[in-house]
Amino acid sequence: STKAVILVGGPSRGTRFRPLSMELPKPLFPVAGHPIIEHCFRAIAGVPEIKEVFIIGYYEESVFQPFIDYISTAFPQLSVKYLREYQALGTAGGLYHFRDVILKGKPERFFVLNADVCSSFPLTEMLKLFEDKDAEAVMLGTRVATESANNFGCIVSDAHTKRVLHYVEKPEGHISNLINCGVYLFATECIFPAIRSAMKRRTERPRLVSYPSSENLESSIYQGQDDDDEDKESVVIRLEQDVLSDIADSRQFFVLESKDFWRQIKTAGSAVPANALYLTKAFQMQSEELAKPSANILPPVYIHPSAHVDPTAKLGPNVSIGPRVTVGAGVRIKETIVLEDSEIKHDACVMYAIVGWKSKIGAWARVEGTPTPITSHSTSIVKNGVKVQSVTILGKECGVADEVRVQNCVCLPYKELKRDVSNEVIM
Ligand code: GDD
Ligand code: GTP
Repeated sequence: STKAVILVGGPSRGTRFRPLSMELPKPLFPVAGHPIIEHCFRAIAGVPEIKEVFIIGYYEESVFQPFIDYISTAFPQLSVKYLREYQALGTAGGLYHFRDVILKGKPERFFVLNADVCSSFPLTEMLKLFEDKDAEAVMLGTRVATESANNFGCIVSDAHTKRVLHYVEKPEGHISNLINCGVYLFATECIFPAIRSAMKRRTERPRLVSYPSSENLESSIYQGQDDDDEDKESVVIRLEQDVLSDIADSRQFFVLESKDFWRQIKTAGSAVPANALYLTKAFQMQSEELAKPSANILPPVYIHPSAHVDPTAKLGPNVSIGPRVTVGAGVRIKETIVLEDSEIKHDACVMYAIVGWKSKIGAWARVEGTPTPITSHSTSIVKNGVKVQSVTILGKECGVADEVRVQNCVCLPYKELKRDVSNEVIM
């Protein structure tokens, strides 16, 4: 049989999804009308042989419980459990810690999904490649522009056999345009021994470990390194840095190159392109959930049934309107997520933006970001020589006064904007 694991991380020390993650853990943030993590479940539910799903992270148990109750009703064929790490163990450390639970019932293989990606998750195709090649591991890859590639794990593969020849996490220089999408299928008998060898290497020469990439350095070394006799399992082990390149060297490791959409959801602004991609997919699948196209609805648009949108407001493309939102007459919204209980007064214009919970946008106000190229994997742009967010974000309960213009700003919760602002972080 086959199981699935979704890696969700924990309450972030990081700042990239702020200010939105101050209210809600990133995996539960709504994109195209559904929590980010629900899109993973929809893909998993499309693979009939998966019966069991684990969410692994270091958030408190209670955080995911309401979501698990909901998703278990939506997909009754799936048994869903949250497994909590007592601290960040790293992407491989978490899997290893819970190996007994994962191995129960002797599944031959299991999927691992990073929760913070937006993808069509072609799991069935990955399974097929796994079987065709008699593989021990398969990862999903996608091509990105050369200038973005080294922000990701880079894969050198044999174009013909699809074998992974070489894997380097966030390399310094250019290695390949084919990058790791954060979606894997592992043979159980391959992955756990591979993680165990990585842990062994690490505990044998802990002080010699250093990584070329500085980004996640803190989480890659011992937690509390002054303490010499800590539990061996408290070593953070990362799939990407510590395990995958070994599997590439010694195992039957293949890559499925996705031709479909894929995007990382790291910054708060990246929820806007993710929203667009999932809405476009829903539209292509003729989802009943989307608003019916009309003169004032340019698809794809999602409107929660409890929202009230004036018929003279023009929405779309790529707009999600959350529960109990009110949108007044003559409003224009595109490329935007409007969260629960917000109010947008008549003739306001909102574009390339996220409007936080219970925010109020005044009449004739303009809240706008800047479009980024469709191929861009970054949500910052350079304006007048300064790096700014391409998406304008209003945190929870912000207010924009009538006729005020807000451009390329990130606004922390509970702020009242009474004058025009641009290219600022409003704290
Ligand atoms: N349970 C658990 N425990 N989950 C974790 C931990 C941990 O200690 N650390 C990270 N995660 C989760 C994150 O929430 C995320 O879903 C996933 O694991 C990977 O996160 P990062 O470790 O921050 O890696 P990354 O996103 O910078 O890079 C990874 O994903 C890219 C694709 O989005 C790598 O796999 C790259 O190679 C890849 O290109
Ligand atoms: P910046 O500080 O903004 O560069 O970002 P960051 O990577 O530290 O945090 P971000 O909010 O972008 O989160 C990235 C992912 O890592 C999320 O999925 C988090 O859940 C996860 N994460 C958060 N804290 C930790 C940690 O201490 N260790 C590890 N390994 N992952 C974490």
